[in-house]
Amino acid sequence: MRSFKLPPQIVRLVILTIGIVGSYVAARQIFTPKSFGQYGHYRGAALTEIASREPRYGGQKSCNECHSEILVKTAKYEHKAVSCESCHGPNKQHGDDPDHHDAAKLTADVCLRCHEFSPSRPAFLKQIDLKKHYTDKGKCTECHLPHQPNEVP
Ligand code: HEC
Ligand code: HEC
Ligand code: HEC
Ligand code: HEC
Repeated sequence: MRSFKLPPQIVRLVILTIGIVGSYVAARQIFTPKSFGQYGHYRGAALTEIASREPRYGGQKSCNECHSEILVKTAKYEHKAVSCESCHGPNKQHGDDPDHHDAAKLTADVCLRCHEFSPSRPAFLKQIDLKKHYTDKGKCTECHLPHQPNEVP
Protein backbone atom coordinates (compact mmCIF):
# COMPACT_ATOMS: atom_id res chain seq x y z
CA MET A 1 0.00 0.00 0.00
CA ARG A 2 1.29 3.44 -0.92
CA SER A 3 1.44 5.67 2.19
CA PHE A 4 0.01 9.17 1.86
CA LYS A 5 2.77 11.80 1.61
CA LEU A 6 2.30 15.56 2.01
CA PRO A 7 3.61 17.39 -1.01
CA PRO A 8 6.93 19.14 -0.12
CA GLN A 9 5.66 22.70 -0.72
CA ILE A 10 2.89 22.15 1.84
CA VAL A 11 5.41 20.84 4.36
CA ARG A 12 7.48 23.97 3.87
CA LEU A 13 4.40 26.18 4.31
CA VAL A 14 3.49 24.41 7.56
CA ILE A 15 7.03 24.81 8.92
CA LEU A 16 7.09 28.48 7.91
CA THR A 17 3.74 29.13 9.62
CA ILE A 18 4.86 27.42 12.82
CA GLY A 19 8.06 29.48 12.70
CA ILE A 20 6.23 32.80 12.30
CA VAL A 21 3.55 32.11 14.91
CA GLY A 22 6.18 30.70 17.29
CA SER A 23 8.34 33.79 17.01
CA TYR A 24 5.31 36.04 17.74
CA VAL A 25 4.47 34.02 20.83
CA ALA A 26 8.07 34.09 22.02
CA ALA A 27 8.41 37.83 21.33
CA ARG A 28 5.20 38.51 23.25
CA GLN A 29 6.56 36.62 26.28
CA ILE A 30 9.87 38.47 26.18
CA PHE A 31 8.74 42.01 25.38
CA THR A 32 5.45 42.42 27.30
CA PRO A 33 6.19 44.57 30.38
CA LYS A 34 5.69 42.81 33.73
CA SER A 35 2.78 44.86 35.02
CA PHE A 36 0.86 44.73 31.73
CA GLY A 37 -2.72 43.63 32.30
CA GLN A 38 -2.55 44.10 36.08
CA TYR A 39 -5.65 46.33 36.01
CA GLY A 40 -6.58 46.37 32.34
CA HIS A 41 -5.15 46.58 28.89
CA TYR A 42 -2.20 48.79 29.91
CA ARG A 43 0.90 48.81 32.08
CA GLY A 44 -0.13 48.82 35.76
CA ALA A 45 3.16 50.49 36.72
CA ALA A 46 2.29 53.46 34.48
CA LEU A 47 -0.19 54.65 37.13
CA THR A 48 2.46 55.14 39.83
CA GLU A 49 4.82 56.69 37.28
CA ILE A 50 2.24 59.28 36.24
CA ALA A 51 1.13 59.93 39.84
CA SER A 52 4.72 60.66 40.89
CA ARG A 53 5.11 63.50 38.39
CA GLU A 54 5.43 66.98 39.85
CA PRO A 55 2.26 69.01 39.04
CA ARG A 56 3.06 72.15 37.05
CA TYR A 57 -0.30 73.89 37.12
CA GLY A 58 -1.44 75.50 40.37
CA GLY A 59 -5.07 75.53 39.33
CA GLN A 60 -7.54 78.39 39.09
CA LYS A 61 -8.46 78.22 42.79
CA SER A 62 -4.90 78.91 43.91
CA CYS A 63 -4.61 81.99 41.68
CA ASN A 64 -7.97 83.27 42.92
CA GLU A 65 -6.92 83.08 46.56
CA CYS A 66 -4.06 85.56 46.24
CA HIS A 67 -5.15 87.55 43.19
CA SER A 68 -8.78 88.20 44.00
CA GLU A 69 -8.46 91.80 42.74
CA ILE A 70 -7.71 90.49 39.24
CA LEU A 71 -10.43 87.89 39.53
CA VAL A 72 -12.91 90.65 40.42
CA LYS A 73 -11.78 92.65 37.37
CA THR A 74 -11.95 89.74 34.92
CA ALA A 75 -15.25 88.43 36.27
CA LYS A 76 -17.31 91.08 34.46
CA TYR A 77 -15.52 90.76 31.13
CA GLU A 78 -15.20 88.48 28.15
CA HIS A 79 -12.23 86.59 29.54
CA LYS A 80 -14.09 85.47 32.64
CA ALA A 81 -14.15 81.88 31.40
CA VAL A 82 -10.45 81.84 30.50
CA SER A 83 -8.28 80.49 33.30
CA CYS A 84 -5.30 82.53 34.46
CA GLU A 85 -2.87 79.83 33.57
CA SER A 86 -4.05 79.45 29.98
CA CYS A 87 -2.44 82.86 29.41
CA HIS A 88 0.19 82.99 32.15
CA GLY A 89 1.28 79.40 31.76
CA PRO A 90 1.89 76.82 34.49
CA ASN A 91 2.41 78.68 37.78
CA LYS A 92 2.35 76.11 40.55
CA GLN A 93 5.81 76.97 41.84
CA HIS A 94 4.91 80.65 41.95
CA GLY A 95 1.72 79.81 43.86
CA ASP A 96 3.72 77.85 46.45
CA ASP A 97 6.27 80.64 46.72
CA PRO A 98 5.17 84.01 45.26
CA ASP A 99 8.77 85.21 44.96
CA HIS A 100 9.32 82.49 42.43
CA HIS A 101 8.21 83.71 39.00
CA ASP A 102 7.72 80.94 36.53
CA ALA A 103 5.21 82.89 34.49
CA ALA A 104 6.28 82.87 30.86
CA LYS A 105 6.95 86.24 29.25
CA LEU A 106 3.72 87.12 27.51
CA THR A 107 3.93 88.22 23.89
CA ALA A 108 1.32 88.81 21.17
CA ASP A 109 1.37 85.06 20.59
CA VAL A 110 -0.53 84.55 23.82
CA CYS A 111 -3.56 86.28 22.26
CA LEU A 112 -3.16 84.80 18.80
CA ARG A 113 -3.19 81.29 20.13
CA CYS A 114 -6.92 81.77 20.64
CA HIS A 115 -7.88 84.70 18.41
CA GLU A 116 -6.03 84.33 15.13
CA PHE A 117 -8.50 83.48 12.41
CA SER A 118 -8.83 79.79 11.71
CA PRO A 119 -11.84 78.25 9.99
CA SER A 120 -11.73 75.35 12.45
CA ARG A 121 -12.50 77.60 15.43
CA PRO A 122 -16.03 77.86 16.82
CA ALA A 123 -17.94 80.96 15.72
CA PHE A 124 -18.46 82.27 19.28
CA LEU A 125 -14.73 82.81 19.65
CA LYS A 126 -14.01 86.21 18.13
CA GLN A 127 -11.23 85.95 15.60
CA ILE A 128 -9.09 88.50 13.86
CA ASP A 129 -7.20 88.43 10.64
CA LEU A 130 -3.73 89.31 11.81
CA LYS A 131 -2.85 90.90 8.45
CA LYS A 132 -5.75 93.35 8.68
CA HIS A 133 -6.24 93.94 12.39
CA TYR A 134 -4.37 97.17 13.20
CA THR A 135 -1.15 95.58 12.06
CA ASP A 136 1.09 98.61 12.27
CA LYS A 137 -0.30 99.91 15.56
CA GLY A 138 1.76 97.85 17.98
CA LYS A 139 1.09 95.16 20.52
CA CYS A 140 -2.35 93.80 21.33
CA THR A 141 -2.09 95.05 24.90
CA GLU A 142 -1.68 98.63 23.68
CA CYS A 143 -5.36 98.61 22.76
CA HIS A 144 -6.83 95.76 24.81
CA LEU A 145 -6.37 95.28 28.53
CA PRO A 146 -5.70 91.57 28.77
CA HIS A 147 -7.95 91.14 31.80
CA GLN A 148 -10.70 93.36 30.38
CA PRO A 149 -10.18 92.90 26.66
CA ASN A 150 -12.74 95.44 25.44
CA GLU A 151 -11.29 98.20 27.60
CA VAL A 152 -8.60 100.48 26.25
CA PRO A 153 -5.56 100.95 28.50
C1 HEC B 1 0.34 82.57 47.84
C2 HEC B 1 -0.19 83.67 47.07
C3 HEC B 1 -0.14 83.59 45.55
C4 HEC B 1 -0.67 82.62 44.75
C5 HEC B 1 -1.33 81.30 45.15
C6 HEC B 1 -0.48 83.09 43.38
N1 HEC B 1 0.16 84.30 43.37
FE1 HEC B 1 0.72 85.36 41.74
N2 HEC B 1 1.61 86.77 42.92
C7 HEC B 1 1.59 86.77 44.30
C8 HEC B 1 2.32 87.94 44.78
C9 HEC B 1 2.52 88.33 46.24
C10 HEC B 1 2.78 88.62 43.62
C11 HEC B 1 3.63 89.86 43.55
C12 HEC B 1 5.04 89.39 43.72
C13 HEC B 1 6.07 90.25 43.12
O1 HEC B 1 5.74 91.25 42.48
O2 HEC B 1 7.25 89.89 43.27
C14 HEC B 1 2.32 87.87 42.46
C15 HEC B 1 2.56 88.22 41.16
C16 HEC B 1 2.00 87.57 40.04
C17 HEC B 1 2.18 87.97 38.67
C18 HEC B 1 2.98 89.14 38.19
C19 HEC B 1 4.38 88.64 38.02
C20 HEC B 1 5.29 89.63 37.40
O3 HEC B 1 6.43 89.17 37.09
O4 HEC B 1 4.96 90.80 37.25
C21 HEC B 1 1.50 87.08 37.88
C22 HEC B 1 1.38 87.08 36.37
C23 HEC B 1 0.90 86.11 38.77
N3 HEC B 1 1.23 86.43 40.07
C24 HEC B 1 0.13 85.05 38.34
C25 HEC B 1 -0.36 84.04 39.18
C26 HEC B 1 -1.10 82.89 38.71
C27 HEC B 1 -1.44 82.59 37.26
C28 HEC B 1 -1.40 82.15 39.81
C29 HEC B 1 -2.19 80.83 39.87
C30 HEC B 1 -1.50 79.65 39.42
C31 HEC B 1 -0.85 82.83 40.98
N4 HEC B 1 -0.24 83.97 40.55
C32 HEC B 1 -0.93 82.36 42.28
C33 HEC B 1 0.98 85.84 45.12
C34 HEC B 1 0.39 84.65 44.68
C1 HEC C 1 -6.28 86.58 28.19
C2 HEC C 1 -5.02 86.30 28.82
C3 HEC C 1 -4.90 86.52 30.32
C4 HEC C 1 -5.70 85.97 31.31
C5 HEC C 1 -6.88 85.03 31.17
C6 HEC C 1 -5.15 86.44 32.55
N1 HEC C 1 -4.09 87.28 32.32
FE1 HEC C 1 -2.97 88.22 33.71
N2 HEC C 1 -1.98 89.26 32.26
C7 HEC C 1 -2.08 88.99 30.91
C8 HEC C 1 -1.14 89.84 30.19
C9 HEC C 1 -0.95 89.85 28.67
C10 HEC C 1 -0.49 90.63 31.17
C11 HEC C 1 0.60 91.66 30.95
C12 HEC C 1 0.01 93.03 30.90
C13 HEC C 1 1.02 94.04 30.39
O1 HEC C 1 2.21 93.74 30.32
O2 HEC C 1 0.58 95.14 30.08
C14 HEC C 1 -1.03 90.24 32.47
C15 HEC C 1 -0.64 90.75 33.68
C16 HEC C 1 -0.93 90.19 34.92
C17 HEC C 1 -0.39 90.60 36.21
C18 HEC C 1 0.60 91.73 36.45
C19 HEC C 1 0.08 93.08 36.10
C20 HEC C 1 -1.28 93.42 36.68
O3 HEC C 1 -2.21 93.68 35.87
O4 HEC C 1 -1.47 93.42 37.89
C21 HEC C 1 -0.95 89.77 37.15
C22 HEC C 1 -0.69 89.81 38.65
C23 HEC C 1 -1.84 88.86 36.47
N3 HEC C 1 -1.82 89.15 35.11
C24 HEC C 1 -2.57 87.87 37.09
C25 HEC C 1 -3.61 87.18 36.48
C26 HEC C 1 -4.58 86.34 37.20
C27 HEC C 1 -4.54 86.04 38.68
C28 HEC C 1 -5.45 85.87 36.28
C29 HEC C 1 -6.69 84.99 36.50
C30 HEC C 1 -7.72 85.54 37.40
C31 HEC C 1 -5.04 86.39 34.98
N4 HEC C 1 -3.94 87.18 35.15
C32 HEC C 1 -5.66 86.10 33.78
C33 HEC C 1 -2.92 88.08 30.31
C34 HEC C 1 -3.90 87.35 30.95
C1 HEC D 1 -7.25 80.65 26.08
C2 HEC D 1 -7.90 81.38 25.03
C3 HEC D 1 -7.80 82.90 24.99
C4 HEC D 1 -6.65 83.65 25.04
C5 HEC D 1 -5.22 83.17 25.23
C6 HEC D 1 -7.07 85.02 24.83
N1 HEC D 1 -8.42 85.08 24.70
FE1 HEC D 1 -9.52 86.73 24.28
N2 HEC D 1 -11.24 85.67 24.46
C7 HEC D 1 -11.30 84.31 24.70
C8 HEC D 1 -12.69 83.92 24.87
C9 HEC D 1 -13.18 82.50 25.15
C10 HEC D 1 -13.45 85.09 24.73
C11 HEC D 1 -14.97 85.21 24.85
C12 HEC D 1 -15.63 84.85 23.57
C13 HEC D 1 -15.45 85.98 22.61
O1 HEC D 1 -16.02 87.04 22.86
O2 HEC D 1 -14.72 85.82 21.63
C14 HEC D 1 -12.51 86.18 24.45
C15 HEC D 1 -12.86 87.50 24.19
C16 HEC D 1 -11.98 88.50 23.78
C17 HEC D 1 -12.34 89.81 23.33
C18 HEC D 1 -13.74 90.36 23.25
C19 HEC D 1 -14.37 90.07 21.95
C20 HEC D 1 -15.79 90.62 22.00
O3 HEC D 1 -16.67 89.85 22.36
O4 HEC D 1 -15.96 91.78 21.73
C21 HEC D 1 -11.19 90.50 23.01
C22 HEC D 1 -11.07 91.92 22.48
C23 HEC D 1 -10.08 89.60 23.32
N3 HEC D 1 -10.60 88.40 23.78
C24 HEC D 1 -8.76 89.94 23.18
C25 HEC D 1 -7.71 89.14 23.66
C26 HEC D 1 -6.35 89.59 23.81
C27 HEC D 1 -5.86 91.00 23.51
C28 HEC D 1 -5.64 88.53 24.29
C29 HEC D 1 -4.17 88.49 24.69
C30 HEC D 1 -3.80 89.34 25.81
C31 HEC D 1 -6.55 87.39 24.40
N4 HEC D 1 -7.80 87.82 24.03
C32 HEC D 1 -6.19 86.11 24.79
C33 HEC D 1 -10.25 83.44 24.76
C34 HEC D 1 -8.91 83.81 24.80
C1 HEC E 1 -4.60 99.98 17.51
C2 HEC E 1 -5.41 99.28 18.47
C3 HEC E 1 -5.54 97.77 18.39
C4 HEC E 1 -4.54 96.82 18.38
C5 HEC E 1 -3.04 97.04 18.33
C6 HEC E 1 -5.22 95.54 18.44
N1 HEC E 1 -6.57 95.71 18.47
FE1 HEC E 1 -7.98 94.24 18.61
N2 HEC E 1 -9.49 95.62 18.42
C7 HEC E 1 -9.28 96.97 18.39
C8 HEC E 1 -10.58 97.62 18.23
C9 HEC E 1 -10.82 99.15 18.13
C10 HEC E 1 -11.56 96.58 18.16
C11 HEC E 1 -13.07 96.70 17.99
C12 HEC E 1 -13.47 97.12 16.59
C13 HEC E 1 -12.97 96.16 15.56
O1 HEC E 1 -13.32 94.97 15.57
O2 HEC E 1 -12.17 96.60 14.69
C14 HEC E 1 -10.82 95.34 18.29
C15 HEC E 1 -11.41 94.06 18.29
C16 HEC E 1 -10.74 92.90 18.60
C17 HEC E 1 -11.35 91.60 18.75
C18 HEC E 1 -12.82 91.30 18.61
C19 HEC E 1 -13.10 91.13 17.15
C20 HEC E 1 -14.58 90.92 16.88
O3 HEC E 1 -14.87 90.22 15.89
O4 HEC E 1 -15.41 91.46 17.62
C21 HEC E 1 -10.36 90.72 19.06
C22 HEC E 1 -10.52 89.24 19.30
C23 HEC E 1 -9.12 91.45 19.06
N3 HEC E 1 -9.36 92.76 18.78
C24 HEC E 1 -7.89 90.90 19.33
C25 HEC E 1 -6.69 91.54 19.14
C26 HEC E 1 -5.38 90.89 19.16
C27 HEC E 1 -5.16 89.42 19.45
C28 HEC E 1 -4.44 91.84 18.90
C29 HEC E 1 -2.92 91.67 18.79
C30 HEC E 1 -2.47 90.83 17.69
C31 HEC E 1 -5.15 93.11 18.73
N4 HEC E 1 -6.50 92.88 18.85
C32 HEC E 1 -4.54 94.32 18.47
C33 HEC E 1 -8.08 97.64 18.50
C34 HEC E 1 -6.82 97.07 18.45
